[in-house]
Amino acid sequence: MAHPNVLALDAGDMMGWSPDTVKHRALFRMMEYLAYDAVGIGDNDLVDGIPFLRNAMDEYGIPVVSANLSDTAADTPLGPGYRVLNRGETRIGIIGVGDPAAFALMKPNRKSAVGIGATIEALDRLLPDVREVSDLIVVLSHASQSHNRTIARRFPSIDVLVGSFSGRPLFEPLLENGVLLVQAGNNGARVGRLDLELDNNHEIVSYRGWLEPLLESMADDQIVLSMLEDYRNELIDGVVGAQDQNPTGSTYRGARTCRTCHEDQFEQWQTTSHAHALQTLIKAGNEKEPECLFCHTTGYGKPSGYFDFATTPALGDVQCEVCHRVSDQHAEMKDIPNPPTAITCIECHTPAQSPGFLFESAFESIKH
Ligand code: HEC
Ligand code: HEC
Ligand code: HEC
Ligand code: HEC
Repeated sequence: MAHPNVLALDAGDMMGWSPDTVKHRALFRMMEYLAYDAVGIGDNDLVDGIPFLRNAMDEYGIPVVSANLSDTAADTPLGPGYRVLNRGETRIGIIGVGDPAAFALMKPNRKSAVGIGATIEALDRLLPDVREVSDLIVVLSHASQSHNRTIARRFPSIDVLVGSFSGRPLFEPLLENGVLLVQAGNNGARVGRLDLELDNNHEIVSYRGWLEPLLESMADDQIVLSMLEDYRNELIDGVVGAQDQNPTGSTYRGARTCRTCHEDQFEQWQTTSHAHALQTLIKAGNEKEPECLFCHTTGYGKPSGYFDFATTPALGDVQCEVCHRVSDQHAEMKDIPNPPTAITCIECHTPAQSPGFLFESAFESIKH
């Protein structure tokens, strides 16, 4: 599917922040179908490792541009630095960059696998070449908004800079030193649109940009819906597979078992919203949605964990064993499980589902 007068772009962070090859493969299938014209790389895109990303780029034909990221193991760049696409008579050069500061929060093992050069040097090096073969220059930049403004101040020859990384959307384009900065924000909540009118010299004579919210009321694309259905079935297959496996030394039993010896903790837990998390899904009509059950029940997708309301009625909600896996002999041996830490929480309290989550204050409200 080619877009005659349109460029479909993503500046980085197509993927979510937790490793999930099943979900990310489904996402790549959709990106292939939507025929993106160029895609930048963000820190989340490396969450399943570079080999996964490179395979997916090949398998689904994802047109990555990346001028300053490299695969340290293979000692090769992660993409061509730029692509030139024609729309009508206009040649549009699209460069991808990522600021090292925007990759600072990556897990150490993932981070050491990627080489990240400085954006300014990469642009210094590439812009003259790209200018030679392009009428318009677009930069896809995974960097903070302040860094993107620095790029704009330094390189007025850029026409449009599409930002990712910062979750803060720009509801209309920002003009900095003659460069149009646009940014759509997080979680696929909005599509950013920028209409450009060019004169015969390919100069921008007018522009109009806005963010289009993707509302429930908008019609769904039937093919994307069927891809989503395939993904859902894949998740269910995985959960069924896990139910068939034997739990290794730690069977999920449910909070009522723990209550016998930990009455105070049980009482306190009942006052938290963790104790009603499945009810929340039932109220919303999503209690059969595998994607939601992973975080709103106990052990969904793990051997002996929650399966469905009929089979495992005692394992709905976010119960004790989400945070304290105890051994099958715990009741007799009284072995002390490792105390949960912030790492336990952020599996579910992700930036998307629980924006602004802070362990210290959140812990105060669930402390028992
Ligand atoms: C037969 C009684 C019994 C049952 C049932 C039981 N525990 Fe315990 N648990 C104990 C004892 C005794 C200790 C160690 C002494 C203490 O700290 O109370 C302990 C310790 C713990 C600790 C560590 C406390 C600390 O001091 O760090 C956690 C967490 C815990 N249990 C969770 C659970 C969970 C979750 C369940 C249910 C799956 C459960 N227990 C079921 C008796 C029990
Ligand atoms: C298995 C996923 C999961 C884990 C792990 C988890 N939570 Fe939650 N948490 C939830 C869900 C789901 C809700 C919302 C429940 C509802 O309202 O239905 C929630 C709600 C909360 C709330 C209430 C939010 C509010 O303002 O209403 C607090 C506080 C909280 N969690 C703290 C923690 C802390 C601290 C940890 C780690 C020690 C943690 N959670 C671990 C899933 C999880
Ligand atoms: C990655 C884990 C995760 C997934 C997946 C998830 N949730 Fe949640 N959900 C949470 C957490 C954590 C909270 C608590 C958020 C907070 O207040 O900080 C929450 C809160 C909620 C709330 C608000 C509860 C309230 O009354 O405040 C609703 C409704 C909800 N989730 C529904 C869903 C539905 C429907 C799905 C599936 C489409 C889903 N969730 C998937 C983790 C998750
Ligand atoms: C959302 C995560 C979460 C859930 C759910 C949860 N706990 Fe805890 N629990 C914690 C954390 C965090 C601590 C504090 C660990 C530490 O000492 O630093 C803790 C401490 C404990 C302790 C140690 C003694 C104490 O009171 O400090 C026991 C025992 C315990 N929990 C039992 C339970 C039982 C039983 C349930 C279910 C009824 C439960 N917990 C549910 C997170 C959780």
